[in-house]
Amino acid sequence: QHVTRIAPSILSADFARLGEEVRDVVQAGADWIHFDVMDNHYVPNLTIGPMVCEAIRPHTTAPIDVHLMCEPVDSLIPMFAKAGANIITFHPEASRHLDRSLGLIRDHGCKAGLVFNPGTPLGFMDHVMDKLDVILLMSVNPGFGGQKFIPNTLDKLRQARARIDQWQNTGGQTILLEVDGGVKTDNIAQIRAAGADTFVAGSAIFGQKDYASIIAEMRREIAK
Ligand code: DX5
Ligand code: ZN
Repeated sequence: QHVTRIAPSILSADFARLGEEVRDVVQAGADWIHFDVMDNHYVPNLTIGPMVCEAIRPHTTAPIDVHLMCEPVDSLIPMFAKAGANIITFHPEASRHLDRSLGLIRDHGCKAGLVFNPGTPLGFMDHVMDKLDVILLMSVNPGFGGQKFIPNTLDKLRQARARIDQWQNTGGQTILLEVDGGVKTDNIAQIRAAGADTFVAGSAIFGQKDYASIIAEMRREIAK
């Protein structure tokens, strides 16, 4: 059994009161803050950048998990590292040189990860396993909060879990397995059973009045 993490996506938070929202959700039991960066190029939506990351940084000591849905990737890495990001993940299709981008993230003192869209093959991780701290599987097509979980993700999660276990069992470093999109209290147990250890949830958490009780319910489901 691995340690598990809940990473609320502030994409569904009240942007007019972001500092307060971050404090409230961490107070309510969140482990990480998931920070969705969309560029209206790699994905058809536009969100927040390094300035907003810097603005929320003083409001929490929880790790900020920056999910770059941006192309190109490399120029943003130093900016987010400077803005206080702890984890930076990007999509392999958006970077010409995966190995270089992953190395650049670590050189800037952050944990590095690759993000796999529903249709992106897991093979992109094959030759960069030693440079990965996290693997993020999208369970929706990226671009918007509030979409429905794509069931095929469960099978892909089992495959990713097997690759990670094999890597770790043969002396490789720890790699976290994160899931993003449509995660709710009624599917999180299944997602956990398929091998995920880190759960992003946006609308499921920020759509509720009481963040603590929804996070507690998610933890109960995960522990089942
Ligand atoms: C989707 C984003 C997700 C999204 C999750 O492109 O990467 O992090 O905010 O939101 P929910 O949990 O509402 O699907
Ligand atoms: Zn995300």
